[in-house]
Amino acid sequence: MVINHNKPNMKKTFKSGVCLLLCSLMLLSCKDEKKSDMPETAETKTKSTIVKSDYATTKEGVKIDKYTLTNANGMKMEVITMGGDIISLTAPDKNGKFEDIVLGYTTPDLYLEGNPYFFGAIIGRYGNRIAKGKFTLDGKPYQLTVNDGPNSLHGGKGFDKRVWAATAIEGDAPSIKLTYTAKDGEEGYPGNLKVTVTYVLSNDNALEISYEAESDKNTVVNLTQHSYFNLSGNFAESIEGQELELKAGKYLPVDATLIPTGELKSVTGTPFDFTKAKVIGKDINLADDQLKKGQGYDHCWIFDDAANTMKSVGGVYHKASGRYMEVLTTEPAIQFYSGNFIDGTKDSKTGGKYQKRSGLCLETQHYPDSPNQPSFPTTTLKAGEKYSTKTTYKFSVK
Ligand code: GLA
Repeated sequence: MVINHNKPNMKKTFKSGVCLLLCSLMLLSCKDEKKSDMPETAETKTKSTIVKSDYATTKEGVKIDKYTLTNANGMKMEVITMGGDIISLTAPDKNGKFEDIVLGYTTPDLYLEGNPYFFGAIIGRYGNRIAKGKFTLDGKPYQLTVNDGPNSLHGGKGFDKRVWAATAIEGDAPSIKLTYTAKDGEEGYPGNLKVTVTYVLSNDNALEISYEAESDKNTVVNLTQHSYFNLSGNFAESIEGQELELKAGKYLPVDATLIPTGELKSVTGTPFDFTKAKVIGKDINLADDQLKKGQGYDHCWIFDDAANTMKSVGGVYHKASGRYMEVLTTEPAIQFYSGNFIDGTKDSKTGGKYQKRSGLCLETQHYPDSPNQPSFPTTTLKAGEKYSTKTTYKFSVK
């Protein structure tokens, strides 16, 4: 694998030039050390690479970097240090044609100024909703930032709106490690929480994500990734035509503000049954109270296999291109969000505007509102203990 920087911008100051030079030397020495580990086989079409480049600068003057990871098959992913956002990801179709299959903005400003749809972002400290932004831990009440009607969604001013430190990691496949430390009291949560998220673009065409965290006080954590996939590569084509399978016989019905009622409901005989691959649009417009509440699918499914080891939990298939994305995770549940709140106001990478259902999210996670629902598996992370979960999105064709 080759790790290198692109050409430094000529307008850069002397200081940042020196910085770049030092970083380059560090990375190049890393490359040299590992050179002998990099076998070049006959099947290898390209060398996997990681290229770091300048992406943009925030209004406050913070420099945001972009890392472009390319695996040995030519699959490419762009990640920025704002929010750890995946801003593009290509996958081959059945004819070997690579196309970008994740939604993203066409200009940096929307990533830098709040990422209204959470495109491609790392989500935390608590992914999904906490009712009224309140919970009690060890007898102490906490009030979080409320940002979704009466509730707290995705951590308030969450990890998607923070700048992460990035390190390119040498190995068989291109990989990037992102770290961010949330402060004690940030957005109302207790504990300084050190978070590490690693993206690997493996040479079997999988995006492997590892989430690790540790806190110095008892806290609650639920980390996930908010990429919107559209396997057609054409974001004007609704995801309603794609097939979804979820190995989940139960889901969590919600109230009018999308907080789980506490019931674990069987999917059998409901529009929520994806136990066998089903076209997403088949039932999405049925007159169903739960679908009305979510304006489509925006619910948490509970996997039949509760083991916190890596397991295949389903996948999405786009017939015309042949692209298939399998989801594997150590998590107990998944929020399937069918892009219902995309409102036609933002430019699409493939032309026109993103519309409702231009993309779908498969956010592996613990159940929403767990800190308030003692019957749900706990999301408490005790001081000094290690939080560790993994999710893989694996791409193939059929
Ligand atoms: C999550 C939520 C949705 C919506 C999106 C962001 O997936 O469940 O209701 O808020 O994030 O638009």
